[in-house]
Amino acid sequence: MLTPSNEQFTNAPDPCGPTHVGIIMDGNGRWAQARSLPRIEGHRRGVEAVRRAVRSAIDLGLRYLTIYSFSSENWSRPAAEVSDLMGLLKRFIRNDLADLHRNNVQVRIIGLRRNLSADLRALLNEAEELTRGNSGLTLVVAFNYGARQEIVEAARKLALDAAAGRLDAAAIDEAALGARLDTAGIPDPDLVIRTSGEQRLSNFLLWQAAYAEFVFLPMHWPDFDHAAFQSALAQYAGRERRFGGTAAPAAIVKSAS
Ligand code: IPE
Ligand code: IPE
Ligand code: MG
Repeated sequence: MLTPSNEQFTNAPDPCGPTHVGIIMDGNGRWAQARSLPRIEGHRRGVEAVRRAVRSAIDLGLRYLTIYSFSSENWSRPAAEVSDLMGLLKRFIRNDLADLHRNNVQVRIIGLRRNLSADLRALLNEAEELTRGNSGLTLVVAFNYGARQEIVEAARKLALDAAAGRLDAAAIDEAALGARLDTAGIPDPDLVIRTSGEQRLSNFLLWQAAYAEFVFLPMHWPDFDHAAFQSALAQYAGRERRFGGTAAPAAIVKSAS
């Protein structure tokens, strides 16, 4: 369950803060290994960290939070671990959906559905349907997600539309491809956080993160808390985003002096 809001938190969005944060939740296995526990225990504790992160995102006034929960490459793990991860997502939705809905959270799932079990697909649909009209935080769950397969899928849709005469191939632009990604309608992430000390994207939002800022935290995901979230946002606040342009005038003056 989401814990009640703590008084020290504010709900007002920071105008200089990120609109959309993506999190690569990594290090559950190593967290467990360091405690001589089975990897599943790390994943269970990881779900608690997800609840904390959602609570923090609401309290910090974020509009979008995307959490990377299962990648298209994670099928290569032992069958028992894959099955544990599927089970944890089911349990998370069953236990937390009502609470998320009460907190005005809109749930969106990105990733392939067709190779998931029928009961999991039904739960994912239920989560999206129930919360479709909510206007608070949008929680995007990247499950069975891989950015390359997402881009391939979008390219296939463009090709089919062009072949059917619905689209002029010469007019294909970034917006046309972006509209066919799973994230259509969701702004690009401003900040991507990865825990566990690894510094790579592992096939997460390759298209959308073109100009994201990156914060790599040494802690493992089960230890992620509100203070860690705040420290990542503080690092983000110190960055200067240029989007290929030149530095802002104030920064030029500073670097020249
Ligand atoms: C992240 O933790 C959870 C998933 C990728 C599903 P890991 O399971 O990758 O943990 P490490 O990286 O092996 O420690
Ligand atoms: C990335 O973590 C995927 C998720 C967090 C769901 P991995 O643990 O699968 O990534 P690699 O294998 O270390 O790159
Ligand atoms: Mg990992």
